[in-house]
Amino acid sequence: MKKLAIFASGSGSNAENIFNYFKEKPEVEISLILTNNPQAGVIERANRMNIPVIVFNRFTFSKSDKIVDLLKNQGIDWVILAGFLWLIPKNLIEAFPNKIVNIHPALLPKFGGKGMWGHHVHEAVVAQKENETGITIHFVNEKYDDGKVIFQAKCTVNEEDTADTVAAKVHQLEYEFFPVTIEKLILG
Ligand code: GAR
Repeated sequence: MKKLAIFASGSGSNAENIFNYFKEKPEVEISLILTNNPQAGVIERANRMNIPVIVFNRFTFSKSDKIVDLLKNQGIDWVILAGFLWLIPKNLIEAFPNKIVNIHPALLPKFGGKGMWGHHVHEAVVAQKENETGITIHFVNEKYDDGKVIFQAKCTVNEEDTADTVAAKVHQLEYEFFPVTIEKLILG
């Protein structure tokens, strides 16, 4: 059985969707949810899903080995970033080589990098009158939104779209493709 830890900074709708996808599948367990944000909606979701949740601060995450030690002690195999906004530190990347996966709400390399998250991405897509956007699922390295691409899916953007309607389309792609892409990666 493979054990997953999910990092999220916000609402956590992707975390819950991943949990629901795997809950009847004994090969994969969502063992832990971690967040940097004590106000994050994902905490309430984790409690509802009965998954232990860890809240950490910047020092613990970036300047200590506490999170790496915790993940290793829990026997975590894969780390999933589902709306997690902090840069992943070197010690965590080295502890989980090619085992940390992020979802980004655009077609990287477009609309990626520091500050490009959530609504900021969709606002930029609309402002630049893009005809399409989508999702990118990729391995994580020490730079924002830079690791090897695993999967992309597209949706159209038209003149009537706002950042909100684009966000809704992108979320649909995330719900449809993130769990199955994780499953393929983990189980082959
Ligand atoms: C998702 O759209 C995800 O792609 C994005 O945050 C949202 C989280 O939604 N991630 C980033 O922007 C990372 N750069 P959720 O909390 O409802 O899952």
